[in-house]
This record gives sequence, C-alpha cells and structure tokens, in this order.
Amino acid sequence: MREKERVLSGIRPTGKLHLGNLLGALDNWKNLQSQFQCFFFIADWHALTTEYADTAEIRQNIAEMTIDMLAAGLDPNESTLFVQSQVPEHAELHLLLSMITPLPWLERNPTYKELQQELSNRDLATYGFLGYPVLQAADILIYKANYVPVGVDQLPHIELTREIARRFNFTYREVFPLPEAKLTEFPKVPGTDGRKMSKSYNNCIYLSDSPEEVVAKVKPMITDPARARRYDPGNPEVCPVFDYHKIFTPVVEQEYCASGCRTAAIGCLDCKEVLLKHLLAYLAPLQERRSQLVKDLMGIQETLSDGSKKARSVAATTLAEAKEAIGI
Ligand code: TRP
Ligand code: SF4
Repeated sequence: MREKERVLSGIRPTGKLHLGNLLGALDNWKNLQSQFQCFFFIADWHALTTEYADTAEIRQNIAEMTIDMLAAGLDPNESTLFVQSQVPEHAELHLLLSMITPLPWLERNPTYKELQQELSNRDLATYGFLGYPVLQAADILIYKANYVPVGVDQLPHIELTREIARRFNFTYREVFPLPEAKLTEFPKVPGTDGRKMSKSYNNCIYLSDSPEEVVAKVKPMITDPARARRYDPGNPEVCPVFDYHKIFTPVVEQEYCASGCRTAAIGCLDCKEVLLKHLLAYLAPLQERRSQLVKDLMGIQETLSDGSKKARSVAATTLAEAKEAIGI
C-alpha cells in the first residue's frame, strides 16, 4: 500500500489554548490524524522572531500547550508531536533555503509589514523576523508535507513556501513536493466581549478554565445590545452568545433560544443557562484529560522528546537529500 500523504502544521507557543484555537485548529488537526501521516509541532523559534526580548514564558507555554494539545485529542501514537527547536535540521534547511530566496519576496510578504505595525513597540527590523517565512518553508519542506492545515492569514506563507520549493527544484533537482494549504471551514468563535477571541483582549475561554470559571465568564457575556431590558426582544444573529449556541447547542434548543429571544419569552440569563449546559458538557472530557496530564509533567517532556526524535529521523533524511542535490 502507498504510504499515507503527509500533513504538517505548527503553532507558536503563545500560552494556554482557548476555544478559538480549539475549534479553529486543533479539532481539525485531530480529524486529520487517522487519514494522513501527521506532524504537529510547537514553533518556538518562530515565537522568538517577535518575543526575543522577553523569553521568560516560552518554556512554560510549550508545556501548557502540549497538555492542551493532548487534552484536545491529539494522539502521540498516531501523530508526531514535537518541538521545533528540538529538531535542529529545520535550522540547517532554513539556512540553505535562505541562499535561494530573493529578498523582495520577503519584503513584500503582507504579514511582514502588518505585524511590524501592529507590534510597533518592539524592534522587528531584524534579520530573523524578515526570514520568518523562510523558516516556515523549512518546517514544511523538511517533511515533504503535502498539506498544511492553516487559517487564511497564513496563505501568503504557504504560497511563499511553494515558490521557494519551486526555485530549489529548478536550481538543483526535484526534491520537494509543492505543499498545499488545507483551509477548513470552522465556526466563528468570538470572545466573551464579542470581539475576536484573543489573549491580548482578555476575552478568552481557556481549555484550562474550571467549570466555575467558564460560568463566571459566560454569565456577563455581551449580548444583543437591543435587549437592554428583559422584555425587549432581541436578534440572535447579532449576539455572540448565539454564535456559541450554533457550535455547542443541539438544534432544537437553539431554536427554542432563538425564538425566545425574538419574542422576549426568555431572558438572556435563561439563554446562557442553556448554552452553559452544553458548553460545559463539551469541555468536561477535555478538562478531565487535562487534569490527568498536569499530574505528569515529566511524561509531557518525554512525549515531546520522543516525538522530536521521530521527527528528526524524517527531517535528517530530507536534509541529506537536499544537500546532495546542492552538491555539498
Ligand atoms: N506561522 C504559523 C502561525 O503563526 C506557525 C507556523 C510555523 C506554521 N511554522 C509552520 C504553520 C509551518 C504551518 C506550517 O500560525
Ligand atoms: Fe443573545 Fe440569547 Fe440574549 Fe438573545 S436571549 S440576546 S441570543 S443571549
């Protein structure tokens, strides 16, 4: 039988995972595990491109994130889970790819200018930050990945990876298959204040939140502002609580809440109670797995070093092939 096609994706260790990460990335990764040979990793070098001056939390974040990934259902027996910096072959391929990557390709990368503006309080006029997509290309190409599940924001990086691979194959010889982005539809999960769920807005529901914390975050959630009083009818389509219902609540109860909202037959707190019942039930098995996992931090480190060893043996093979093609 032909070997399964390969999937690879990475996530920067920004801290604990929230519901947005879970539904936007991890649930999707989990579903790819059985169909593909999967490589999922924590991109700690990529974190350094923006956090080089403040590295205090990176180690802790890697551990937290690994726990969350396992709790969310990634299975180290099925997928290769690893840490980028434990596979130094990525860095060597990054160096080799940097030789053939024209500077203008990097300078016109839209995320380069955008993020530099967004994080204008830091000095991001660095070599490493400009080279972010070259490192990402090395991450992908070193496993000869066929598919890369990412959000739309990452599409320019996947396109650049393809261009770098094409240039390598043309300059030396055919070594790298051209990877494809795998965009998946995922439901909109706003933060508790209705804006995008983001650590910096302090509006996240984390996988590590206890049921009590989840209740305490959902109860004061922003709703349709038209429902200022209990007897004001509302519109579920403009309410972030209802975005959650669409994900977690069975249709019958969703309809009960929607019509109760439109006719003011139910209040927002009643509506949130219905949501909480289902949200907590969804989170319960994750929280249970999480509470087991945190008891064995040594085991977490072992999972990562085992995964990194497996990743290294694949990465070393590709790297040798690339060096052979270049002639060094
Ligand atoms: N740049 C990605 C992000 O910010 C993370 C990442 C690093 C990645 N290397 C990767 C994603 C390789 C996919 C493939 O989300
Ligand atoms: Fe939102 Fe539910 Fe309140 Fe309607 S009843 S505004 S859907 S929380």
